[in-house]
Amino acid sequence: MNPTNNIVNGAIRLRIYFWGVLVTWTIIVAGLFVVGILQIRHVQQELAINEARANFNKDQSLRFWSAKRGGVYVPVSEHAPPNPYLSHIPERDIKTPSGKALTLMNPAYMLRQTMTEYEKLYGVRGHITSLQHFRPETAPDEWEISALMEFEQGRQEVSEFSTIDGKPYFRVMSPMITKKGCLKCHGHQGYKVGDVRGGVSVSVPMAPYLANYRKQAIAYGISFGALWILGLAGISLGTGGLRRRIRERDMAEFQLLKAHDELEMRVKERTVELAEANSNLHFDPDNDFSLLGKFEGIPCQIDDDLAKSARVP
Ligand code: HEC
Repeated sequence: MNPTNNIVNGAIRLRIYFWGVLVTWTIIVAGLFVVGILQIRHVQQELAINEARANFNKDQSLRFWSAKRGGVYVPVSEHAPPNPYLSHIPERDIKTPSGKALTLMNPAYMLRQTMTEYEKLYGVRGHITSLQHFRPETAPDEWEISALMEFEQGRQEVSEFSTIDGKPYFRVMSPMITKKGCLKCHGHQGYKVGDVRGGVSVSVPMAPYLANYRKQAIAYGISFGALWILGLAGISLGTGGLRRRIRERDMAEFQLLKAHDELEMRVKERTVELAEANSNLHFDPDNDFSLLGKFEGIPCQIDDDLAKSARVP
Protein backbone atom coordinates (compact mmCIF):
# COMPACT_ATOMS: atom_id res chain seq x y z
CA MET A 1 0.00 0.00 0.00
CA ASN A 2 1.34 3.42 -0.96
CA PRO A 3 1.07 5.85 2.00
CA THR A 4 0.86 8.87 -0.35
CA ASN A 5 -2.14 7.27 -2.02
CA ASN A 6 -3.64 6.73 1.39
CA ILE A 7 -3.30 10.42 2.23
CA VAL A 8 -4.85 11.45 -1.11
CA ASN A 9 -7.73 9.00 -0.59
CA GLY A 10 -8.22 10.40 2.91
CA ALA A 11 -8.43 13.96 1.57
CA ILE A 12 -11.01 12.94 -1.05
CA ARG A 13 -13.04 11.04 1.53
CA LEU A 14 -12.92 14.06 3.83
CA ARG A 15 -14.15 16.32 1.04
CA ILE A 16 -17.02 13.90 0.28
CA TYR A 17 -17.80 13.79 4.01
CA PHE A 18 -17.81 17.62 4.22
CA TRP A 19 -20.12 18.02 1.23
CA GLY A 20 -22.33 15.15 2.37
CA VAL A 21 -22.83 16.69 5.81
CA LEU A 22 -23.29 20.16 4.29
CA VAL A 23 -25.91 18.94 1.81
CA THR A 24 -27.74 17.00 4.57
CA TRP A 25 -27.66 20.07 6.82
CA THR A 26 -28.93 22.28 3.97
CA ILE A 27 -31.76 19.85 3.23
CA ILE A 28 -32.73 19.73 6.93
CA VAL A 29 -32.69 23.53 7.32
CA ALA A 30 -34.46 24.09 3.98
CA GLY A 31 -37.04 21.42 4.89
CA LEU A 32 -37.72 23.02 8.29
CA PHE A 33 -37.89 26.44 6.62
CA VAL A 34 -40.42 25.23 4.05
CA VAL A 35 -42.51 23.50 6.74
CA GLY A 36 -42.39 26.70 8.82
CA ILE A 37 -43.35 28.88 5.87
CA LEU A 38 -46.25 26.59 4.99
CA GLN A 39 -47.33 26.69 8.62
CA ILE A 40 -47.25 30.51 8.66
CA ARG A 41 -49.21 30.57 5.42
CA HIS A 42 -51.70 28.12 6.85
CA VAL A 43 -52.13 30.17 10.04
CA GLN A 44 -52.64 33.38 8.04
CA GLN A 45 -55.18 31.65 5.83
CA GLU A 46 -56.96 30.25 8.88
CA LEU A 47 -57.09 33.76 10.36
CA ALA A 48 -58.61 35.12 7.14
CA ILE A 49 -61.11 32.22 7.04
CA ASN A 50 -62.06 32.86 10.66
CA GLU A 51 -62.50 36.57 9.99
CA ALA A 52 -64.72 35.79 6.99
CA ARG A 53 -66.82 33.28 8.97
CA ALA A 54 -67.15 35.64 11.94
CA ASN A 55 -68.38 38.39 9.60
CA PHE A 56 -70.72 36.05 7.85
CA ASN A 57 -72.21 34.84 11.15
CA LYS A 58 -72.71 38.38 12.39
CA ASP A 59 -74.46 39.34 9.14
CA GLN A 60 -76.55 36.22 9.35
CA SER A 61 -77.75 37.00 12.88
CA LEU A 62 -78.54 40.59 11.84
CA ARG A 63 -80.51 39.33 8.86
CA PHE A 64 -82.46 36.85 10.99
CA TRP A 65 -83.14 39.55 13.52
CA SER A 66 -84.66 41.74 10.83
CA ALA A 67 -86.51 38.92 9.03
CA LYS A 68 -88.09 37.74 12.30
CA ARG A 69 -89.51 41.22 12.74
CA GLY A 70 -90.71 41.33 9.12
CA GLY A 71 -88.27 44.16 8.40
CA VAL A 72 -87.86 47.34 10.40
CA TYR A 73 -89.17 50.86 10.02
CA VAL A 74 -86.63 53.64 9.63
CA PRO A 75 -87.01 57.39 9.13
CA VAL A 76 -87.10 58.25 5.40
CA SER A 77 -83.88 60.05 4.42
CA GLU A 78 -81.41 60.19 1.55
CA HIS A 79 -79.79 57.12 3.13
CA ALA A 80 -83.10 55.28 3.39
CA PRO A 81 -85.46 56.09 0.54
CA PRO A 82 -88.60 53.87 0.38
CA ASN A 83 -87.76 50.55 -1.30
CA PRO A 84 -89.59 50.41 -4.68
CA TYR A 85 -89.42 46.60 -4.53
CA LEU A 86 -91.62 46.66 -1.44
CA SER A 87 -94.39 48.72 -3.01
CA HIS A 88 -96.69 45.67 -2.95
CA ILE A 89 -96.40 45.51 0.87
CA PRO A 90 -99.25 47.35 2.64
CA GLU A 91 -98.02 50.04 5.05
CA ARG A 92 -94.55 50.19 3.48
CA ASP A 93 -94.60 53.91 4.35
CA ILE A 94 -96.14 55.14 7.58
CA LYS A 95 -96.13 58.33 9.61
CA THR A 96 -95.52 58.77 13.32
CA PRO A 97 -98.24 60.65 15.24
CA SER A 98 -96.06 63.75 14.98
CA GLY A 99 -95.90 63.39 11.20
CA LYS A 100 -92.40 61.89 10.75
CA ALA A 101 -92.21 59.67 7.65
CA LEU A 102 -91.06 56.05 8.24
CA THR A 103 -90.43 53.39 5.61
CA LEU A 104 -90.07 49.61 5.87
CA MET A 105 -86.59 48.33 5.43
CA ASN A 106 -86.42 44.65 4.40
CA PRO A 107 -83.55 42.47 5.73
CA ALA A 108 -81.62 42.46 2.42
CA TYR A 109 -81.86 46.23 2.16
CA MET A 110 -80.67 46.69 5.73
CA LEU A 111 -77.86 44.19 5.31
CA ARG A 112 -76.68 45.74 2.06
CA GLN A 113 -76.38 49.10 3.82
CA THR A 114 -74.57 47.73 6.88
CA MET A 115 -72.25 45.73 4.62
CA THR A 116 -71.41 48.82 2.57
CA GLU A 117 -70.63 50.74 5.77
CA TYR A 118 -68.52 47.86 7.05
CA GLU A 119 -66.58 47.64 3.80
CA LYS A 120 -65.78 51.35 3.94
CA LEU A 121 -64.59 51.02 7.53
CA TYR A 122 -62.81 47.64 7.51
CA GLY A 123 -62.43 46.56 3.88
CA VAL A 124 -64.45 43.36 4.27
CA ARG A 125 -66.96 43.01 1.46
CA GLY A 126 -70.37 41.49 1.94
CA HIS A 127 -72.76 40.72 -0.84
CA ILE A 128 -76.29 39.45 -0.67
CA THR A 129 -77.22 37.88 -3.96
CA SER A 130 -79.42 35.40 -5.77
CA LEU A 131 -79.81 33.79 -9.18
CA GLN A 132 -83.18 35.64 -9.22
CA HIS A 133 -82.52 39.16 -8.07
CA PHE A 134 -84.36 42.46 -8.04
CA ARG A 135 -81.64 45.06 -8.05
CA PRO A 136 -78.73 45.24 -10.48
CA GLU A 137 -76.27 45.65 -7.59
CA THR A 138 -77.49 42.33 -6.18
CA ALA A 139 -76.47 40.48 -9.36
CA PRO A 140 -74.04 37.63 -8.61
CA ASP A 141 -70.57 37.61 -10.13
CA GLU A 142 -69.21 34.48 -11.83
CA TRP A 143 -67.83 32.95 -8.65
CA GLU A 144 -71.14 33.58 -6.84
CA ILE A 145 -73.17 32.09 -9.71
CA SER A 146 -71.23 28.81 -9.54
CA ALA A 147 -71.53 28.81 -5.72
CA LEU A 148 -75.30 29.41 -5.91
CA MET A 149 -75.63 26.52 -8.36
CA GLU A 150 -73.73 24.29 -5.94
CA PHE A 151 -76.09 25.33 -3.12
CA GLU A 152 -78.99 24.14 -5.27
CA GLN A 153 -77.25 20.71 -5.26
CA GLY A 154 -77.16 20.78 -1.45
CA ARG A 155 -73.70 22.22 -0.72
CA GLN A 156 -73.55 24.18 2.53
CA GLU A 157 -70.53 26.40 1.99
CA VAL A 158 -68.15 27.38 -0.77
CA SER A 159 -64.89 29.15 -0.08
CA GLU A 160 -61.88 30.09 -2.14
CA PHE A 161 -58.84 32.31 -2.27
CA SER A 162 -59.41 34.43 -5.35
CA THR A 163 -59.13 37.97 -6.65
CA ILE A 164 -61.64 40.79 -6.96
CA ASP A 165 -60.59 43.67 -9.23
CA GLY A 166 -57.10 42.20 -9.26
CA LYS A 167 -56.76 42.20 -5.47
CA PRO A 168 -56.42 39.01 -3.41
CA TYR A 169 -59.41 38.04 -1.27
CA PHE A 170 -60.60 35.08 0.69
CA ARG A 171 -64.22 34.48 -0.28
CA VAL A 172 -66.73 32.42 1.57
CA MET A 173 -70.37 32.02 0.66
CA SER A 174 -73.31 30.24 2.28
CA PRO A 175 -76.85 29.79 1.11
CA MET A 176 -79.85 31.70 2.43
CA ILE A 177 -82.61 29.23 2.95
CA THR A 178 -86.21 30.40 2.76
CA LYS A 179 -87.91 30.48 6.14
CA LYS A 180 -91.50 31.22 7.05
CA GLY A 181 -90.74 34.86 7.80
CA CYS A 182 -89.31 35.34 4.29
CA LEU A 183 -92.57 34.39 2.58
CA LYS A 184 -94.23 37.65 3.61
CA CYS A 185 -92.25 39.37 0.86
CA HIS A 186 -90.85 36.47 -1.24
CA GLY A 187 -93.88 34.15 -1.26
CA HIS A 188 -95.24 35.77 -4.43
CA GLN A 189 -92.02 34.78 -6.28
CA GLY A 190 -92.94 31.12 -5.85
CA TYR A 191 -90.45 30.27 -3.07
CA LYS A 192 -91.37 27.65 -0.44
CA VAL A 193 -89.87 27.06 3.00
CA GLY A 194 -86.54 25.22 2.59
CA ASP A 195 -85.73 26.58 -0.89
CA VAL A 196 -82.39 28.23 -1.56
CA ARG A 197 -83.43 31.87 -1.76
CA GLY A 198 -79.96 33.12 -2.50
CA GLY A 199 -76.69 33.48 -0.69
CA VAL A 200 -74.42 35.82 1.20
CA SER A 201 -70.81 36.04 0.26
CA VAL A 202 -68.16 37.61 2.44
CA SER A 203 -64.81 38.58 0.94
CA VAL A 204 -61.96 39.31 3.30
CA PRO A 205 -59.02 41.24 1.80
CA MET A 206 -55.87 39.14 2.03
CA ALA A 207 -53.47 42.12 1.76
CA PRO A 208 -52.95 42.55 5.54
CA TYR A 209 -52.58 38.78 5.97
CA LEU A 210 -50.15 38.56 3.07
CA ALA A 211 -48.14 41.47 4.51
CA ASN A 212 -48.07 39.65 7.84
CA TYR A 213 -47.07 36.43 6.11
CA ARG A 214 -44.27 38.18 4.24
CA LYS A 215 -42.99 39.82 7.44
CA GLN A 216 -42.97 36.52 9.30
CA ALA A 217 -41.49 34.67 6.33
CA ILE A 218 -38.60 37.19 6.19
CA ALA A 219 -38.01 36.82 9.95
CA TYR A 220 -38.11 33.06 9.50
CA GLY A 221 -35.74 33.26 6.54
CA ILE A 222 -33.25 35.36 8.55
CA SER A 223 -33.32 33.03 11.56
CA PHE A 224 -33.04 29.91 9.43
CA GLY A 225 -30.26 31.54 7.38
CA ALA A 226 -28.40 32.29 10.62
CA LEU A 227 -28.97 28.72 11.77
CA TRP A 228 -27.64 27.40 8.46
CA ILE A 229 -24.52 29.59 8.69
CA LEU A 230 -23.99 28.45 12.28
CA GLY A 231 -24.25 24.85 11.14
CA LEU A 232 -21.88 25.56 8.25
CA ALA A 233 -19.34 27.04 10.67
CA GLY A 234 -19.71 23.98 12.92
CA ILE A 235 -19.29 21.59 10.00
CA SER A 236 -16.22 23.51 8.73
CA LEU A 237 -14.65 23.53 12.18
CA GLY A 238 -15.44 19.87 12.69
CA THR A 239 -14.04 18.93 9.28
CA GLY A 240 -10.93 21.07 9.92
CA GLY A 241 -10.33 19.26 13.20
CA LEU A 242 -10.92 15.93 11.51
CA ARG A 243 -8.54 16.88 8.70
CA ARG A 244 -5.83 17.74 11.23
CA ARG A 245 -6.34 14.48 13.11
CA ILE A 246 -6.37 12.45 9.89
CA ARG A 247 -3.23 14.21 8.73
CA GLU A 248 -1.52 13.43 12.05
CA ARG A 249 -2.69 9.83 11.83
CA ASP A 250 -1.56 9.55 8.22
CA MET A 251 1.82 11.05 9.11
CA ALA A 252 2.19 8.58 11.97
CA GLU A 253 1.16 5.76 9.66
CA PHE A 254 3.58 7.02 7.06
CA GLN A 255 6.42 7.14 9.59
CA LEU A 256 5.50 3.68 10.82
CA LEU A 257 5.43 2.27 7.31
CA LYS A 258 8.73 3.98 6.57
CA ALA A 259 10.27 2.52 9.72
CA HIS A 260 8.78 -0.84 8.84
CA ASP A 261 10.18 -0.69 5.32
CA GLU A 262 13.57 0.35 6.62
CA LEU A 263 13.50 -2.47 9.10
CA GLU A 264 12.57 -4.93 6.40
CA MET A 265 15.37 -3.61 4.22
CA ARG A 266 17.79 -3.98 7.06
CA VAL A 267 16.55 -7.51 7.76
CA LYS A 268 16.96 -8.34 4.06
CA GLU A 269 20.46 -6.90 4.04
CA ARG A 270 21.36 -8.78 7.19
CA THR A 271 19.90 -11.99 5.75
CA VAL A 272 21.97 -11.58 2.63
CA GLU A 273 25.05 -10.85 4.74
CA LEU A 274 24.31 -13.82 6.93
CA ALA A 275 23.78 -16.07 3.92
CA GLU A 276 27.06 -14.88 2.50
CA ALA A 277 28.77 -15.40 5.81
CA ASN A 278 27.27 -18.86 6.04
CA SER A 279 28.38 -19.87 2.60
CA ASN A 280 31.80 -18.44 3.33
CA LEU A 281 31.81 -20.54 6.45
CA HIS A 282 31.16 -23.66 4.35
CA PHE A 283 33.81 -22.98 1.77
CA ASP A 284 36.55 -21.45 3.90
CA PRO A 285 39.53 -23.65 3.12
CA ASP A 286 40.84 -23.09 6.66
CA ASN A 287 37.68 -24.53 8.13
CA ASP A 288 37.21 -27.31 5.61
CA PHE A 289 36.89 -30.57 7.52
CA SER A 290 38.16 -32.54 4.52
CA LEU A 291 41.53 -31.19 5.48
CA LEU A 292 41.24 -32.93 8.81
CA GLY A 293 43.01 -35.91 7.13
CA LYS A 294 46.26 -34.04 7.15
CA PHE A 295 46.35 -34.37 10.94
CA GLU A 296 45.89 -38.19 10.77
CA GLY A 297 48.87 -40.24 11.80
CA ILE A 298 50.12 -37.66 14.29
CA PRO A 299 50.43 -39.46 17.61
CA CYS A 300 47.89 -38.31 20.09
CA GLN A 301 49.08 -37.79 23.61
CA ILE A 302 45.65 -38.09 25.15
CA ASP A 303 45.00 -41.47 23.48
CA ASP A 304 48.26 -42.87 24.80
CA ASP A 305 47.54 -41.70 28.32
CA LEU A 306 44.12 -43.30 28.18
CA ALA A 307 45.63 -46.57 27.06
CA LYS A 308 48.01 -46.42 29.88
CA SER A 309 45.40 -45.84 32.55
CA ALA A 310 43.25 -48.65 31.14
CA ARG A 311 46.08 -51.11 31.29
CA VAL A 312 45.63 -53.75 33.97
CA PRO A 313 48.57 -53.67 36.34
C1 HEC B 1 -89.99 42.80 4.46
C2 HEC B 1 -89.91 42.03 3.28
C3 HEC B 1 -88.85 40.97 3.19
C4 HEC B 1 -88.60 39.97 4.04
C5 HEC B 1 -89.26 39.61 5.34
C6 HEC B 1 -87.52 39.26 3.44
N1 HEC B 1 -87.14 39.84 2.27
FE1 HEC B 1 -85.65 39.31 1.06
N2 HEC B 1 -85.89 40.89 -0.07
C7 HEC B 1 -86.96 41.72 -0.01
C8 HEC B 1 -86.94 42.66 -1.13
C9 HEC B 1 -87.93 43.71 -1.39
C10 HEC B 1 -85.81 42.34 -1.86
C11 HEC B 1 -85.27 42.95 -3.15
C12 HEC B 1 -84.86 44.33 -3.04
C13 HEC B 1 -83.71 44.53 -2.16
O1 HEC B 1 -82.72 43.87 -2.34
O2 HEC B 1 -83.89 45.34 -1.27
C14 HEC B 1 -85.18 41.24 -1.15
C15 HEC B 1 -83.99 40.68 -1.55
C16 HEC B 1 -83.53 39.48 -1.06
C17 HEC B 1 -82.38 38.85 -1.56
C18 HEC B 1 -81.44 39.38 -2.61
C19 HEC B 1 -81.69 38.87 -3.97
C20 HEC B 1 -82.88 39.42 -4.60
O3 HEC B 1 -83.86 38.66 -4.67
O4 HEC B 1 -82.87 40.57 -5.05
C21 HEC B 1 -82.29 37.67 -0.88
C22 HEC B 1 -81.23 36.61 -1.08
C23 HEC B 1 -83.32 37.64 0.08
N3 HEC B 1 -84.08 38.78 -0.04
C24 HEC B 1 -83.51 36.62 0.96
C25 HEC B 1 -84.45 36.69 1.98
C26 HEC B 1 -84.60 35.65 2.98
C27 HEC B 1 -83.83 34.32 3.00
C28 HEC B 1 -85.53 36.08 3.85
C29 HEC B 1 -85.96 35.40 5.09
C30 HEC B 1 -84.93 34.96 6.03
C31 HEC B 1 -85.98 37.38 3.37
N4 HEC B 1 -85.32 37.72 2.24
C32 HEC B 1 -86.94 38.14 4.02
C33 HEC B 1 -87.91 41.73 0.96
C34 HEC B 1 -87.93 40.88 2.06
